[in-house]
This record gives sequence, structure tokens and C-alpha cells, in this order.
Amino acid sequence: MIVARKHNINKDEFDGKVVLVTGANRGLGLAITMDLARAGATVIMLGRDLGSLEYAYDEVVDAGLTEPILYPLDLEGATPENYQELQDNLLSQFGKLDGLVHNASILGTQMPIEQYDIKLWYSTLQINLSAPFMLTQFLVPALLKSEDARIIFMSSTVGREARAYWGAYSVSKFGIEGLAKTLSEELEKTKISVNTVNPGKMRTEMRRTAYPAEDSSTVPLPEEKSKAIVYLLSTSSPKINGEQITISD
Ligand SMILES: NC(=O)c1ccc[n+]([C@@H]2O[C@H](COP(=O)([O-])OP(=O)(O)OC[C@H]3O[C@@H](n4cnc5c(N)ncnc54)[C@H](OP(=O)(O)O)[C@@H]3O)[C@@H](O)[C@H]2O)c1
Repeated sequence: MIVARKHNINKDEFDGKVVLVTGANRGLGLAITMDLARAGATVIMLGRDLGSLEYAYDEVVDAGLTEPILYPLDLEGATPENYQELQDNLLSQFGKLDGLVHNASILGTQMPIEQYDIKLWYSTLQINLSAPFMLTQFLVPALLKSEDARIIFMSSTVGREARAYWGAYSVSKFGIEGLAKTLSEELEKTKISVNTVNPGKMRTEMRRTAYPAEDSSTVPLPEEKSKAIVYLLSTSSPKINGEQITISD
């Protein structure tokens, strides 16, 4: 299904809500964080590097938005014990989680499968697919405490149709689609909904790396896509489950 990218979010729409966003320090993750904080949400900003999270934190706070919480965690090396600690912290501080946005990803490299670097293959699958699986597993107990919890897995066009040379990135996004669909069936009778979102092209570091020769001024900013994602996280949008959502360009 296609969702329009323009949405008006009320200032107090997320008052009292807690949402965790991965890769929240820059790109689409930061744009989603800003929009959620603007609507009153307490955002748990998960990112690999504390310094860059602090930089992003200042942006949110300097804009006068709801103060976020920083959670440094490298999704490549994170262990079940790290995820358990996150669950314990979250439940003791907030008692629930209302939204989980699996946004962090790496591009890997663009190369034929025959030549794909094996170490980079493992890293890409770890960050883009296995980490979202583990994070979800450990956060479902907190999501079940919410009256209306929403999980969004960020996907891609190449996670829905195959394209040569997109290698581990494409495979990880196909995997995300499978993970989300399976989870949506398992949680069907709960208050948690699970969907994938293809945000479409955005002017971020990932896009610049994938298309170095492109005129970036023709590519939408992540801030032009984030409101649609915040709309999908909001209880004022109809609850949908198990869908492949695309944000219009
Ligand atoms: N940009 C596009 O055109 C486009 C199109 C379709 C889908 N998407 C999807 O949209 C999402 C956001 O993309 P984007 O363009 O905003 O990407 P981006 O600018 O490259 O940002 C990626 C984010 O993921 C984080 N990350 C990477 N490895 C990590 C790790 N090991 N642990 C924790 N965080 C890690 C990065 O943190 P660091 O700053 O520490 O590296 C950064 O915050 C991704 O899921 C992507 O696949 C993007």
C-alpha cells in the first residue's frame, strides 16, 4: 500500500508515548526522531556512537522539543546480554514501549554475489537483519504493555524486487520483509502491529554512496519522508498489520 508523504502531526499527539528509533543520530532516523519529539514523544535514540548521538541530542533539545534518551549500542557487536539490559532499563524507567522503528542499516557493497566480500556479507546481515530480530525479541515484552504498539521495519525497493549487484543489502531487506510478515502473523491477536516501510529515495549518506553521480538536489530530504512514518506510528492512523507500505515520492 502507498502512503502519502505529507501529514500534519498534532503537537501533543505522542504525549506520554515512548518510541525507540535505531540509527537515530543522522539521516532518516534523526528526521523521525525530530518529528516524534515535536509531537511530544520520548524518543530512545539508539546509535552506534555516543559522540554522534550527543550531537543529534543537541539538535533536538536546541529546537525546544521533548528531551530524548540516548542509548549507545553497536548493532554489529550487540549480544543477548546487551538487549536484556536494554529491556530491563526500559521496563524499569517507562514500564512500556509504544513504538519501535528499525531504521539503522548499512549498504554493504555493490558487487556481484560471486565476488562479494564474505566478511562484509556477515556484517551487513548482522546489522540489517539479525540485530532487528534480536532487538524485537527482547522488546516485545515492553511493547505488549502498551495499549497500541507499532513496529516498523525499514525496507527498500530492493527488498521487494531483486536487482543485480545489491548483494547482502538486498538480501537483508528481503529477510526483513520475511521477518516482519512472520511476526505480524504471530502477534495478530495482540495490540502490536508490524509493518515494513519502503521510504523511497532520500538525500542521505547511504543514497550518496549508492549513487555518487546523481544530482542530489533532485532527491527528497529525509525530513520530507519522516512525517509519513510518524503518522504510521500514531494511534490516530488506522491500525494495519502485515503490510508492505511505500511512501510516495
Ligand atoms: N536513503 C535512501 O535513499 C533509502 C532508500 C530506501 C531505504 N532506505 C532505508 O532507510 C533507512 C535509513 O537510511 P538512511 O538513508 O537514513 O541511512 P544512513 O544515512 O546511511 O544512516 C544509517 C544509520 O544507521 C546507523 N548504523 C549503521 N550501522 C550501525 C550499527 N552497527 N549500530 C547502530 N547503528 C548503525 C548509522 O549510524 P552511524 O552514523 O554511526 O554510522 C546511521 O544512523 C535504512 O534502513 C535504509 O536501508 C534508505
